[in-house]
Amino acid sequence: MGVFSNPAFDDHERVVFCHDAATGLSSIIAIHSTTRGPGAGGCRLWAYADEDAALTDVLRLSQGMSYKNAMAELPLGGGKAVIIKHSDFTGSDALYERFGEFVESLGGAYITAEDMGMSEAIMQVIGSRTSYVSGLPAEGGAAGGDPSPKTALGIYAGIRTAVEFRDARSSLSGLRVAVQGVGNVGYNLCKLLHADGAILLVADMDEARVARAVSEFDATPVGLDDVLSVDADVLAPCAMGAVLTEESIPDLRVGIVAGGANNQLAAPGDGQRLHDAGILYAPDYVINAGGIINVACEYQGGFTDADVDESVMRIGARLKRIFERSADNDVPTNRIADAQARRFIGRN
Ligand code: NAI
Repeated sequence: MGVFSNPAFDDHERVVFCHDAATGLSSIIAIHSTTRGPGAGGCRLWAYADEDAALTDVLRLSQGMSYKNAMAELPLGGGKAVIIKHSDFTGSDALYERFGEFVESLGGAYITAEDMGMSEAIMQVIGSRTSYVSGLPAEGGAAGGDPSPKTALGIYAGIRTAVEFRDARSSLSGLRVAVQGVGNVGYNLCKLLHADGAILLVADMDEARVARAVSEFDATPVGLDDVLSVDADVLAPCAMGAVLTEESIPDLRVGIVAGGANNQLAAPGDGQRLHDAGILYAPDYVINAGGIINVACEYQGGFTDADVDESVMRIGARLKRIFERSADNDVPTNRIADAQARRFIGRN
């Protein structure tokens, strides 16, 4: 499949293929739009089935970052990077340093941070070669560090808004939430929900992560194939994208889908399917913006951790406006959000 002909291309400004034989680095950096500022978005490390899958993923993610940053009213455009985890991948410092050099070579058109498979420690290695990096350890109450807890905080705010909007429920006590993926985001989300008395049903390919959620939050393990059809109030997808499909939506047994994974809808029409089924969908790039808000505050400087929390909690009000417009106009929430985001980046 070509780049320009890829269905996810959507007029990307730049797509950069980065290769380094010595370290085994194969990476793609995609910059969708710099209309609002430099393209900002995390770097994902993943064992893609093939290069086309990696390209499609980075294009979809980078477009999503344009939308996410615009909807969060940040002075940032949309970009994203993927590093392909080949079978002989070693994850050496030299590989991440080389990636940092590629980021640096773009002169600030792209700012990187953590996504799946990344950590603060890796960001520090990347940061030894470029200043266009965020998600570095924070000190003394300043904004910064691993963005996942802030992503989780925004999802928590969004779930509160969604249950209040749909079910007129102001307390999360006894709310049944199915969480797909209890990694960095899912784990922190479970922590917040558990503190409010929610009942958690969790699934993850990594059994140790499931065990941690069971022991710390009294969560009930659910099979990988069952988590999308379990009877609950809320489904929070916090693993890979494209989990809401023509096939999976009819099996959902929840009233709300509100989670952290990027690109949860396999196709835009899946938003209509959810809407027709009476399931309230919190558009992913609106509800999961907490991490990039943290990244932006760290990168800009001068913000405290408390400033970040205040800004992240505004995600609830932002979602409420989308839910209201969706209900008033009988239009799926994803279409309301997409139209607004595209207007914000001058692409309507
Ligand atoms: P992570 O790698 O820490 O956790 C993902 C978890 O999902 C892992 O434990 C993995 O084993 C599990 N998983 C993968 N496939 C699965 C499947 N089919 N069924 C069940 N579990 C599965 O990644 P992280 O950072 O928690 O990100 C999760 C999602 O949230 C990703 O889609 C990411 O792009 C998105 N996101 C993350 C942000 C962040 O701040 N880390 C910000 C915004 C979005």
